[in-house]
Amino acid sequence: MQQLTILRPDDWHLHVRDGAVLADIVPETSKVFHRAVIMPNLVPPVTTVSAALEYRQRIMAAVPPQHSFQPLMALYLTQTTSVDEIRAAAANPHVIGFKLYPAGATTNSAAGVTAVNDMAPAFEAMAEHGVPLLIHGEVTESEIDIFDREKVFIDRYLRHIVAQHPQLTVILEHITTADAAQFVNEAHARVGATITPQHLLMNRNDLLVGGIRPHNFCLPVLKRRTHQEALQQAAISGSPKFFLGTDSAPHVQHKKETACGCAGCYSAPAAIELYAEFFSRMDALDKLENFASRFGAEFYGLPVNETTITLVQTPWQVPATVTAGGEPFVPYWAGETLQWRVRN
Ligand code: DOR
Ligand code: ZN
Repeated sequence: MQQLTILRPDDWHLHVRDGAVLADIVPETSKVFHRAVIMPNLVPPVTTVSAALEYRQRIMAAVPPQHSFQPLMALYLTQTTSVDEIRAAAANPHVIGFKLYPAGATTNSAAGVTAVNDMAPAFEAMAEHGVPLLIHGEVTESEIDIFDREKVFIDRYLRHIVAQHPQLTVILEHITTADAAQFVNEAHARVGATITPQHLLMNRNDLLVGGIRPHNFCLPVLKRRTHQEALQQAAISGSPKFFLGTDSAPHVQHKKETACGCAGCYSAPAAIELYAEFFSRMDALDKLENFASRFGAEFYGLPVNETTITLVQTPWQVPATVTAGGEPFVPYWAGETLQWRVRN
């Protein structure tokens, strides 16, 4: 039987929600990953260091004792985030950075940034104090086609932010286009990107051909095949600017399978296996460890994990549903087969 041992991976973009579901969602990640960047788009959003530390405590209470897991908290950037809060974030080792959601771009983003161009003082303070800026890179203007929203964000805002604040560390989250991959490749070394499993394994045909598939719907939305191919090349390129961030984003089944379904793929139940599937299909399994377990830590200036996990080549089926907080959730890739599985 083929097997592959790699350093324990980290997930640099993760939603674990809160309340009743938290206790069942956190272990899906902590069973494999050592660290995860926790997204702050709760209701209300996690805008302060003190709120993030309280949320962190609730997450830690959900980690099974046999798992070793460290949540790295992202704070929710608003139009009124103060320089004092940025300083407090810089001083706290549990806080990894600020997440910029353009207001209205995605789930629970209403309190996000309404005027990116007015955020220069915050970006300056973040650059000065070494606080990374994590970005949901999509414009929200209704006249911009949803498939163009990432590229327009890059051209309208991101080029400018990176040029104006050369000391600022920027992570363009869950990139979906060739334009984003090219932008990150050509930018200076403090600009990186996370890539989700769904954007590597699928394109928009997998969302729309033969019927709408709500469990493949996330934001930024899947793009055409040529964009998928550009992301695939970025992921296997060996460039340390591209690393693992699942954007696992659970929504209860009835909120996905409805007339106006929520955005988000719940990939945590099979996260590293989905990436292994992709690297294996690309005949690039030798590139998995750097992408999953090294480049993200190095990008953030954190130590690389010392323990390992072992993947075994043994086909298995992702379950049709999993339960969290007593309710059904349909995982990404539900009912489909994966070739690799973590050995417990
Ligand atoms: O598909 C998404 N779901 N994209 C996001 O940016 C947010 C996430 C969520 O929180 O559900
Ligand atoms: Zn996300």
